[in-house]
Amino acid sequence: MRSSAEAPCKAIITGEHFVVHGAWALAAALGKKVRVDVEPSDRFRIHSDAHLASRSALAPAARVVETMAREFSFRPNLRVDISSEVPDGAGLGSSASTMVAIVSALSRLKSLGLGRREVIDFAMVGEREIHGHPSGIDVNICTLGGVILFKIGTKPKQVSLSRPARLLVVHSGRKRKTRTLIDRVSATRSDYPALFGGLAQSASDISRLAAERLAAGDSKGLGRLLTYNHAVLSFIGASNDRLNGLVDLLLSLGCAGAKLTGAGGGGSVIAVTAEGKEKSTISELKRRGFEAFEASIPVGGARSWLRR
Ligand code: MEV
Repeated sequence: MRSSAEAPCKAIITGEHFVVHGAWALAAALGKKVRVDVEPSDRFRIHSDAHLASRSALAPAARVVETMAREFSFRPNLRVDISSEVPDGAGLGSSASTMVAIVSALSRLKSLGLGRREVIDFAMVGEREIHGHPSGIDVNICTLGGVILFKIGTKPKQVSLSRPARLLVVHSGRKRKTRTLIDRVSATRSDYPALFGGLAQSASDISRLAAERLAAGDSKGLGRLLTYNHAVLSFIGASNDRLNGLVDLLLSLGCAGAKLTGAGGGGSVIAVTAEGKEKSTISELKRRGFEAFEASIPVGGARSWLRR
């Protein structure tokens, strides 16, 4: 008997970094996925395709398997294969989708019947090892799917859209390390506690407003909020010249708004394209050497199945 699971990657629409410090953030699951196949083996082996080849994700993934084996008293003599459509270091949650898919596939293989909360808790074992003190928004969105408003310590709220929406995702071509960026932003918080508190409150407001605009299908209104959020993220040290240049380029191509997504420092930028200009915007980005794709939201969350 073998089992498989898939989990979507994600984009943080607004509120990243501040969410680690208690603010509300808005996130969407995207159609690109990580897939995990698990089957019994003579010993524990874990293997991943090129996208996740970095050792930084494999050892924590193994730790998730070992933790579950201890908790549910089974021997981890398993072969775990990870394949990903999501580039590592792109700010699109490849590590979170990997951890969620591993927990889901193992739960299915061992008939553990884990609910979504438990999947999230076990996936966080791997995420903490990679990122230090993550908020948990990534594993929540990769498990639940859809579009969520998230705040540490509260039940995520699903946001229903009046009609499907599209986000443009552009890879900056630079990898980033979430842990380093979280630490850098936390240092800004220590340097300017009162100012940071005000910005965190404003990030919560931006996220609530962005959820409303997205739900109503108001792409212009959503775009304005994205660009404003990017300016705030720049101030706290999450951006750099490359990302600022990419945001400026997207605005000059007629996008309604653009911002870095996830930890920043590299990774990806998201944008709301002008109606009817999606294809020409992507062609122009490709001409300038950027990888870009259009993501249609909402998409479903993690799922798993058995194979004979
Ligand atoms: C990473 O996708 C989002 C951050 O806010 C970190 C976190 O919330 O764990 C930068």
